[in-house]
Amino acid sequence: MKLGVVILAAGQGTRMKSALPKVLHPLAGRPLVAHVIATARELGAAKIAVVYGHGGEQVPIEVAESELAWVEQSEQLGTGHAVGQAMQEMQEMDRVLVLYGDVPLTSSETLDKLINTANKMDLVLLTVNLTNPSGYGRIVRKADGRVSRIVEQKDASAEELALNEVNTGILVADRIRLDGWIERLDSDNAQGEFYLTDIVAIAVADGIEVQAAQPSNESEVMGVNDRVELASLERYYQQMQAERLMRSGVTLLDPARFDLRGSLNAGQDVVIDINVLIEGTVELGDNVRVDANTVIRNSRIAEGVWIKENCVIEDAVIGKESIIGPFSRLRPETELAERVHVGNFVEIKKSIVDVGSKINHLTYIGDCTIGRTVNVGAGTITCNYDGANKFRTVIGDGAFIGSATQLVAPVEVKSGATIGAGSTITRDAPPDTLTLSRAKQMSFRSWTRPTKKTKE
Ligand code: UD1
Ligand code: CA
Repeated sequence: MKLGVVILAAGQGTRMKSALPKVLHPLAGRPLVAHVIATARELGAAKIAVVYGHGGEQVPIEVAESELAWVEQSEQLGTGHAVGQAMQEMQEMDRVLVLYGDVPLTSSETLDKLINTANKMDLVLLTVNLTNPSGYGRIVRKADGRVSRIVEQKDASAEELALNEVNTGILVADRIRLDGWIERLDSDNAQGEFYLTDIVAIAVADGIEVQAAQPSNESEVMGVNDRVELASLERYYQQMQAERLMRSGVTLLDPARFDLRGSLNAGQDVVIDINVLIEGTVELGDNVRVDANTVIRNSRIAEGVWIKENCVIEDAVIGKESIIGPFSRLRPETELAERVHVGNFVEIKKSIVDVGSKINHLTYIGDCTIGRTVNVGAGTITCNYDGANKFRTVIGDGAFIGSATQLVAPVEVKSGATIGAGSTITRDAPPDTLTLSRAKQMSFRSWTRPTKKTKE
């Protein structure tokens, strides 16, 4: 069975009150529609077509995924019309699954269930019972319980409005039959639209039995219409991810104050304190401890690392048992070996730091290679930029850099060298030798402190 997926994403999303098309608003850092596309791929769809609206050219540009068919629906004439626009892309498919770009969290398990039912049936709907069904199309069943049609809220009688089983909009249909049903749709209804939902009554009139399946959870079929709903789905999603992590052996001190926007691969007995944000692809080895208020983005952190409070770590690699923070900033292309210590107000960029080296206070290390067991004193600055070009600094094994030193790159401090505090190093410092540059200290006995002028 070849499965085709049509994702409807032409809605303007006026209630978002945004210049950005609704389906591009991020959920857990990814556009809403990207979640839906990812689910369609999980289902093993042979073809995925996304229907986007007039003025929504930004959608294909931003999503920029390969192997997608983009179909423009220039006028929004209804869900039936929207699916109809995509049907030429579905010509080689056996079954068509209709999904919505603004319903991001339908699980592949729920959809698999729907698709499996559809292997035996020509039309299967995903429906859900809601205590407050207002706004949704209602599922009307015959006396024997079989589905007979869907009636939209605006077209429903008082009796129909009292029905609690609603249409989620998601359905699977036989491709050839769906083609025929869509051709027979009309717009003779309260909204003057071609309703996809009308295919149900048409199928039933043809003597076809229409089945319904239910999602495992209500949130799976919730759509995003405004930013309040977006925030509530974000919370639901974060809670699901947090639960999954905790069940896999990660301690989250407060799952409500943990956010993952991307994917986290965590070892055993990882402990994450409150207000930690993980973005992109992050790996945390066994026994990693992350204290409160830290952001980690696209980084690999080996076992036993302790990240103290308030760090920002991006595109970095941290070796085993290193200690980072509090208040450290590791910028892209930072590679720390094992047992490196990076302390407060230290910024490191595009640098390699070898085993056991310490950079503990108020320091900028940029474009630098630091050997083993180096001690970089407080307030050290690598002057890596002359206003036009960047240059590298190399510090050999066992070197000691005295506090408040400027290393003017390109420059090399050889292994075992000691740099006296307050030096400006512009030429290479020889190995196992004290090098310093220092202005002469002076005292002025005749000098007096200025005093405040008194007003006349
Ligand atoms: C639709 C269903 C309703 C169901 C509800 C679930 C129809 C007629 N009604 O109603 O039974 O309970 O969804 O949320 O299908 N879209 C297009 N092009 C169009 C029209 C819509 O791409 O011409 C897209 C929208 O972007 C949206 C989705 O289809 O993502 C649903 O459209 P919307 O107008 O919101 O349908 P509802 O009135 O909510
Ligand atoms: Ca509508």
